[in-house]
Amino acid sequence: AQNLSFERARVRKDSSTKKLINDAIMNNDFLKKLEPQHMREMVDCMYEKVYTEGQLVIQEGEPGNYLYVLADGLLEVIQNGKLLGQMRPGTAFGELAILYNCKRTASVKAVSQSLIWALDRQMFQSIMMRTTQARHQEY
Ligand code: CMP
Repeated sequence: AQNLSFERARVRKDSSTKKLINDAIMNNDFLKKLEPQHMREMVDCMYEKVYTEGQLVIQEGEPGNYLYVLADGLLEVIQNGKLLGQMRPGTAFGELAILYNCKRTASVKAVSQSLIWALDRQMFQSIMMRTTQARHQEY
């Protein structure tokens, strides 16, 4: 049953998109520690969202239910009303609330229209729970 849910969740992507997402994950200090198999599943299950100029992607202090990778556009990171920095394509973010179950540590806002790949918490958790052993039993 879990395999079926993965089949439904997979979103077709070209190789350059897969590379962009994978590189973004590998460049993130927290996400790069995940197992390669888990990373591949994450890349496969991410889906596309478009944010318009000025739209909030993440609200500081709220529970977080998505992990993101910016593919196109420009974002800014704001904490307590102060600009902490900008994010450019090829950046993974929103990992802290997903990995550590904490509240969002900062807000993230689209400076221009942005194309973002997202993975929801439920999918992230089912990918993490899928053990190497379960994988072997498929074949
Ligand atoms: P999360 O706390 O889930 O949601 C806000 C995200 O902003 C956070 O995960 C990080 O991915 C990112 N973030 C937090 N602080 C900074 C910072 N100082 N510079 C850049 N990105 C940050």
